[in-house]
This record gives sequence, C-alpha cells and structure tokens, in this order.
Amino acid sequence: MNKNSEKISGWKRFMKSMTKAHDLGTEEDILLDHDYDGIKELDNVLPPWWLYGFYITIAISAFYVFQVLTNPDDYNQANEYSIAVAEGKAEVEAYKAANPQLFDDSNIVALTDEASIAKGKALFTEKTCFACHLADLGGSIGPNLTDNTWILGGGVKNIFNTISKGGRPGKGMIAWESTISRDERIQLASYIISMQGTTPANPKAAEGDIIWPEVTEEAAVE
Ligand code: HEC
Repeated sequence: MNKNSEKISGWKRFMKSMTKAHDLGTEEDILLDHDYDGIKELDNVLPPWWLYGFYITIAISAFYVFQVLTNPDDYNQANEYSIAVAEGKAEVEAYKAANPQLFDDSNIVALTDEASIAKGKALFTEKTCFACHLADLGGSIGPNLTDNTWILGGGVKNIFNTISKGGRPGKGMIAWESTISRDERIQLASYIISMQGTTPANPKAAEGDIIWPEVTEEAAVE
C-alpha cells in the first residue's frame, strides 16, 4: 500500500464512521417487511454526523435554559422591548436636538427669493394643488388663495400648518406632510403668500373670516 491509498482509506474510514452507511448489496439485512405499493423501507441508523449536531444543540439549549432561569431580567421579552423602545426614542431626541431647524415650526419665515418662489410655483402644479385651487390660485373646489380672507388662518405659519395638517375633515384638503417634504411645504406657503393681492381670472367669492394681511388704513383709502 502506498501513502496515497492509506490516506484515502483513512478518509473512507472516517466517512464510514460519520455516516454508518450500510454496505451496498446487503440491503436485505435492514429491509423492513412492509411494502407500500412496491415502495419498501430500509431501517438505516441515524448518521452519527447528524446525531452529533443534535447533541450539540441540546447542550447549547441547556446553557440557554440556565441563562434564562438565572438572569430573568436580561432574557425577558417585555424588558428587551422597553429597552429597545427607549433606545429608539433617545436616538430620535438626539437627532432632533442636533437638527432643531428641521422640527421647530415656530420660526418659519416666508421665503422671498425668486428661486424659492419659482420652486413653490412648480410644486403647486406638480403636487396637484392647482386641481382644486386653480393655476392662478383663484379657487374652485378649494378656496381662493389670493384674497385676504382665510378659513384656516393666513400668514406663513398658518398656511404651512394647513398644507401640513390639511383642512377641516371632509372638506377635501388633505394633510400633505407625509408626501411633501418640509422644505417644499415652506416653498409652497411662500409662493401662496407671494400671490397675495393678485387678480385671478375668476376669483372664487371670499370664504372664511380670518383676515390676513390686515388692510392698512392707507390701503383701504385707495
Ligand atoms: C382635492 C382638492 C384640493 C387639493 C388637491 C388641494 N387643496 Fe387646498 N384646500 C382644499 C379645500 C376644500 C380647502 C378648504 C379646507 C377647509 O374648508 O377646511 C383647502 C384649503 C387650503 C388652504 C387654506 C385656505 C384658507 O382659506 O385657509 C391652503 C393654504 C391650501 N388649501 C393650499 C393647498 C396646497 C399648497 C395644495 C397642494 C399641495 C392644496 N391646497 C391642494 C382643496 C384642495
């Protein structure tokens, strides 16, 4: 026997011990005596490699049971859940603290630069606002947005809030905050403000009794 064949037979022996495969040609020895429409069954032993894996999982499960029984607080779904929720909340707070300008609506100011107004105007078409308020903002299903009477309040903060949270239930003005970004809602509000006092082709009659901007005495005399 040369070295190679020794190696092969060693490997074969190892495979044999791990599988306990029954030698070909001697199936008769382990043939069970039932016959299902010609299908017969051999009574093979479970292969040792599989059994060892099974024993390892049993050993590991003993370790887990021990851990769970001795540290009930660490291995408790309710605790794990509340820890995860607390961590998530802390992350949100940290993000808010690091980016206050993204969350504080109290200091929104109307943009007046041309680029932002143009962006707001484009969004007014793109986001289908014109379908209810018309392209010149004169109003149809939705109110006229060029006059100074408001159902939900004028001024950039109120208009931003209406676009974000929507109008009164059932009126048709939905909340857009989940579909339009905060920056874009500010651009839309700024565009609407820039259109104050313009004269649409067929202005819808004034609706709402909140007046903004206030008519100054000088303007009223005009
Ligand atoms: C399906 C029709 C519809 C669409 C689309 C729509 N609106 Fe409205 N909008 C309304 C209605 C109706 C109201 C009045 C709500 C109320 O009476 O509470 C309204 C109210 C408003 C108001 C407040 C007016 C006031 O007098 O207080 C603003 C501002 C406004 N919409 C802006 C927008 C913008 C910006 C968009 C696009 C992102 C938009 N709307 C899309 C129907 C619509």
